[in-house]
Amino acid sequence: MHSLLPIFPLAALALAQQQPQVPIAPDTPRPAGPLTLDTIPRLGYGTWNLKGDNVSDAVSLAIQTGYRHIDCAAIYRNEKEVGRGIADGLAKAGLQREDIWVTSKLWNDHHGAASNVEAAIRQTLSDLDLTYLDLYHMHWPVSSTPDPEIEYLDTWDAMTTLLPAQQNLTRHLGISNFSPAQVARLLAHSPTNTPSVHQMELHPYLPQTAWLAFHRLNNIHVTAYSPFAGTNPTYSPGATVPLLSNPVITKLAEKRDCTPAQVALAWGLARGTSVIPKAQHAEYIESNFEVEGCELKEKDLKAVDGLGAEPKRFNDPSKSWGVGLYKGLEDAGGK
Ligand SMILES: NC(=O)c1ccc[n+]([C@@H]2O[C@H](COP(=O)([O-])OP(=O)(O)OC[C@H]3O[C@@H](n4cnc5c(N)ncnc54)[C@H](OP(=O)(O)O)[C@@H]3O)[C@@H](O)[C@H]2O)c1
Ligand SMILES: *[C@@H]1O[C@H](CO)[C@@H](O)[C@H](O)[C@H]1NC(C)=O
Ligand SMILES: *[C@@H]1O[C@H](CO)[C@@H](O)[C@H](O)[C@H]1NC(C)=O
Repeated sequence: MHSLLPIFPLAALALAQQQPQVPIAPDTPRPAGPLTLDTIPRLGYGTWNLKGDNVSDAVSLAIQTGYRHIDCAAIYRNEKEVGRGIADGLAKAGLQREDIWVTSKLWNDHHGAASNVEAAIRQTLSDLDLTYLDLYHMHWPVSSTPDPEIEYLDTWDAMTTLLPAQQNLTRHLGISNFSPAQVARLLAHSPTNTPSVHQMELHPYLPQTAWLAFHRLNNIHVTAYSPFAGTNPTYSPGATVPLLSNPVITKLAEKRDCTPAQVALAWGLARGTSVIPKAQHAEYIESNFEVEGCELKEKDLKAVDGLGAEPKRFNDPSKSWGVGLYKGLEDAGGK
């Protein structure tokens, strides 16, 4: 799929690990465009925790508002409602399936053999009422199948059979929540079918700047999840000041005539990532989409960068699953 840059990935990885301040120097201009995957719409719509009786309405409204990228997952247990919303939104906006980008994710209980992986994507496609995905992620590098021998490399090999050259059920493959060592091992194992996208937690409280740079060097696009940090109601923010009421963010929002949410999204877009905010409130769906009108200056972006001085990760099931996750990354505490 994507050719690797002429840099041995492990060498680039070593660089990223040894020198957490590099390779993005303070004065390096931020990339304005996509990192590597020029067809992924960089503002997406997240669907985790969309629940109740207006899930389809919310997804449909998102498409009618202008979102062209919907981020789904089997484990969100709402793909049927999301699928109805996609169909409704496309019809009302006068669009075709090909006009939008739909992502979903393989859950941990379908790792391993190609038959497991194929059953999982076929269920997702049936629930979403689609014939193909644009992107299918391995949700976690963790198998919860009964076979203890199964590991993510096997699962990845099985996933590659879903690509256009074989079953043509997804246009691209991605990974999510991998550590540096896990990515390096995957790239060494599968040099021809490398991941197109890595979806990971990224926001001003967890900037992971060197890790992001590693992906740029290796031609892997990065999607930022939980762009509003601890705002997701299933997270435990503890004593952390909510990102959207952090004074650095609210003051910038006021100064640049943006909402605090738009400031967080604009910062993520300025780093070259795609961002996938979730919102069920109609007014948030609409105002988040207007991030394009929120213009931040380089000094504003630097002020937001300063919020990551003591990184804070909100999504870490290491302890509850009894596995080591995120080794070597910011705030890999294993809560
Ligand atoms: N790969 C993975 O393991 C993984 C993990 C986490 C998330 N994700 C994906 O990333 C998406 C986004 O992350 P997330 O859902 O964790 O959290 P998020 O998008 O950072 O935050 C969602 C929360 O922010 C609120 N919100 C949205 N817009 C707002 C605004 N303008 N002002 C104030 N509050 C606002 C939402 O409220 P309402 O909904 O009540 O309107 C909701 O409570 C997920 O939905 C999912 O698709 C993937
Ligand atoms: C869904 O219902 C909630 C609660 O009534 C409401 O606040 C929200 O705006 C609704 N969203 C949409 C897209 O209709
Ligand atoms: C894969 O499927 C897509 C969408 O259904 C189709 O447009 C494309 O021609 C197919 N590609 C191959 C290689 O069969």
